Amino acid sequence: MEQTEVVKPETLDDLIKVLHKIFESDTINIEEVQNIVEAYESKPQEWMKFAKFDQYRYTRNLVDEGNGKFNLMILCWGEGHGSSIHDHTDSHCFMKLLQGQLKETLFEWPDRKSHGDMVQKSQRILLENQCAYINDSIGLHRVENVSHTECAASLHLYSPPFQYCQTFDQRTGHKNTVKMTFWSRFGEKTPFETAVSQENN
Ligand code: SIN
Repeated sequence: MEQTEVVKPETLDDLIKVLHKIFESDTINIEEVQNIVEAYESKPQEWMKFAKFDQYRYTRNLVDEGNGKFNLMILCWGEGHGSSIHDHTDSHCFMKLLQGQLKETLFEWPDRKSHGDMVQKSQRILLENQCAYINDSIGLHRVENVSHTECAASLHLYSPPFQYCQTFDQRTGHKNTVKMTFWSRFGEKTPFETAVSQENN
């Protein structure tokens, strides 16, 4: 198959413009999106205004609403912060490391009959500028900043956007539906009552 040339977005704004263009179409080429997101070289001065950290849990900070086709957000992970095991509500999930490293652990969907530990499929460390991809047919995942000394920031694109997902108990496979919230939107802190994500542990 012919390889399409990836035009490198020089800035975060460029990347957002390219993403708007790509997502005008109803069919998405996963590899194309992954390559373009990966090609953007993270420059903290371009995304710092969105990156708002919390002492206790990772935060979700909305950057762009992608004309209703996707949500682009920056997740800020303090030392030791991690997500629950979760699904992606039938959406595409692209996740790029802007700073630091994150550990991604992939799990199989729990069997309706099984009640024990969830089955772990793989584990990997994502490095700066790498872009990972997952959807529900690949499985479930947990993301963690395992560092005790360094924080991390990641850029996530979800398409179509979603507000609810399912989280899973690793020991039993039992699931819960949770609402996902933003700690900040377009660089402005969300009022406290609506900002606390239930997804986090
Ligand atoms: C993750 O992939 O672990 C982050 C989930 C989220 O969007 O909060």
